[in-house]
Amino acid sequence: MFDGRTTCVVVVGAQWGDEGKGKLVDVLAERADFVVRYQGGANAGHTVVIGDSHFILRQIPSGILHPNVTCVVGNGVVLEPETFFGELDQLAERGVDTAGRMFVSDRAHLVLPFHKLLDAASEKSQNIGTTGRGIGPAYEDKYGRRGIRVADLRHLDCARGLLVDRVARANRLLELMGSGERASFEQHAELLARLAPRLLPLAADTGLLVHRALKAGKRVLLEGAQGALLDVDHGTYPYVTSSNTTAGGAAVGAGLGPTAINGVLGVVKAYTTRVGNGPLPTEAESPFGERLRELGGEFGSVTGRPRRCGWFDATVVRYAVRVNGLTGLAVTKLDVLDSFAEIPVCTAYRLDGEVCEEVPAMADALGRVRPVYEVLPGWQQSTSGARRLSELPQPARAYLERLQDLSGAPLRYVSVGTRRDQIIEV
Ligand code: IMP
Repeated sequence: MFDGRTTCVVVVGAQWGDEGKGKLVDVLAERADFVVRYQGGANAGHTVVIGDSHFILRQIPSGILHPNVTCVVGNGVVLEPETFFGELDQLAERGVDTAGRMFVSDRAHLVLPFHKLLDAASEKSQNIGTTGRGIGPAYEDKYGRRGIRVADLRHLDCARGLLVDRVARANRLLELMGSGERASFEQHAELLARLAPRLLPLAADTGLLVHRALKAGKRVLLEGAQGALLDVDHGTYPYVTSSNTTAGGAAVGAGLGPTAINGVLGVVKAYTTRVGNGPLPTEAESPFGERLRELGGEFGSVTGRPRRCGWFDATVVRYAVRVNGLTGLAVTKLDVLDSFAEIPVCTAYRLDGEVCEEVPAMADALGRVRPVYEVLPGWQQSTSGARRLSELPQPARAYLERLQDLSGAPLRYVSVGTRRDQIIEV
């Protein structure tokens, strides 16, 4: 994606999240100087393999594994500080030195234990099937203008004052929700006092840092979390997360002007998955759904929940191409489809008897649509050894070409396995 003119690239999920963005970021970061997370928080998860140990990065961009890359948690992220330090510690234990190349925006909001209590107690969260990481309540506080930000830790006395009010408010809400849980002011005050000396040395005006890097000709990768259909504006509201996951959110959440961004890569699986509740028009019937889940290892990396699985939905991806302004598409997990004799692809919907080529605003309407399928021949042989497009079986190439044509964005990458070398650059 990077070339002489393309120096600031956003990588976004173009379905319901879990498309494999982390892996693409990991590979693209080889050519980047900065990797910036711009929204979401510890609701995301990317499994990292170092040697023979596996662990999950939730808030630190996977670009951190490249020693020359500087990583940033942008202002648009809601940061769960303890988890963040847990990730830093795990990296240190495995010999990854992050000193001097990990920064956190001083404008980022904090996710505190009371946010998690509220998420767990909320009936709405249960209904949506949230990850339970306090994401919604933390963004509610941000937009309600009562959030506590990283910069507040510079004045701990003032931060304690804010906490008195926020903890009391959280406890009133917990009572209203009928929860027996209560947040403790002392515990929160102790947490902030303990975290401040470790967090403040990493705190910076990261928008300025990235702006200066771009001015100096450096390459910047902006790493999205979740996917377009979980965007609070463009997703299947209210079954969404609480941030703007789409490319527009990258400018705001990284602290850049939109004109700084000159490439947008959308990542899609060769099929579709969703974790949590809400409509999923192409959800596959038994036994195909189970087979996709088993072959694709489709279990949430944060919650371990089984993901709902189905066929590629070109209506959804076409919509994601539009709302993100995608300049390229990366198709992941093609190999998961290797054994299928026939592969349906949804080209449009029927809604109340009419053909519908766009994603409707109402989740219940999307829940009612009937997918219009085109059935493509499978290839029934392994693709995992292919390193060039020309090495893929002809029906697999035809499948990818059809996805590209239906989606309306050029194919740039295809992944055929979990290893880094199993990414084909088109
Ligand atoms: P929240 O972000 O925890 O509030 O959850 C809201 C919705 O977004 C739920 O349906 C979650 O399952 C979904 N979600 C949040 N983060 C991710 C992710 O990283 N991958 C997939 N789904 C996610």
